[in-house]
Amino acid sequence: MRRDGDVHHQRRVIERLGTGVPGFDQLIGGGIPRGFFVAVVGEPGVGKTVFSIHFIAEGIRVGDKNIYVTTEESRDSLIKQSSMFGFDFERAINDRKLVIIDALMGHRDDPWSLHELDVDELINKIIEAKRYLGYGRARLVIDSMSAFWLDKPAMARKYSYNIKRVLYRWDFTALLTSQYAVTTSLGFGFGIEHVADGVIRFRKSIVKGRMHRYVIVEKMRQTEHSLTMHEIEIVNGKGMRVVGSTEYRKEDFSLPQHVTARMIVSELKKLIETPDNPI
Ligand SMILES: Nc1ncnc2c1ncn2[C@@H]1O[C@H](COP(=O)(O)OP(=O)(O)O)[C@@H](O)[C@H]1O
Ligand SMILES: [Mg+2]
Repeated sequence: MRRDGDVHHQRRVIERLGTGVPGFDQLIGGGIPRGFFVAVVGEPGVGKTVFSIHFIAEGIRVGDKNIYVTTEESRDSLIKQSSMFGFDFERAINDRKLVIIDALMGHRDDPWSLHELDVDELINKIIEAKRYLGYGRARLVIDSMSAFWLDKPAMARKYSYNIKRVLYRWDFTALLTSQYAVTTSLGFGFGIEHVADGVIRFRKSIVKGRMHRYVIVEKMRQTEHSLTMHEIEIVNGKGMRVVGSTEYRKEDFSLPQHVTARMIVSELKKLIETPDNPI
């Protein structure tokens, strides 16, 4: 009896925000807990921005206040990309439901531009935008965070911590994207992932000459989340959706070193042993 009561209690107190990506919320117990700070990581082209667009479009749909900070694309490019999936960000801006802070173009006379990639300026601008949008539950995307510490990777963790503290007070549930490549993981992934309440990782791989995209939830506090890699697709006119579970699990993509070494040796052997070896 007691246990049932506890489960019920837990469900009632954790308010979750839908991501707007069909099939994704089921992987994380219904959505992202309110107030969470979630890192969205992966190499270029895997779907981090598209995922973030859905999160904001869902916020617009349910009446949240929405702020999207863009550092790698201009505001216009983001609006165009969103319209390809049927989301009208221009109207949301006019209706005071969305502010897009453009940190790429830095227009002098635009109130929602960042003139420098400076974390303190960023935080001030976000708070200013929240005041403009008004009281209430808010969603924030910073796409991408990597840009803010390109020249000082050692500061990444400290910046992430500062941002987390400030934003929590302003009722934000936030997605922060970050580039991730194995060779540069220290500079790019390190900062956010360690202070984040959740980590959503996107991946790609070429199978029989075709690119496939995947997503795996690596961390989501207070949540019994899926541990399986799921394939996703991005479709013109619709956007992203989860296609289904794959047989791949996280460890398939990171084989132990000795296994990788053995595979390379065996491939080399095959090459040498071929009778009509052209080499
Ligand atoms: N209108 C569209 N129709 C189909 N696929 C699209 C469309 N727009 C973008 N994409 C896909 O999304 C990819 C970009 O994903 P994005 O989320 O921007 O990646 P990143 O992880 O770098 O942010 C493109 O390379 C393309 O494959
Ligand atoms: Mg992007």
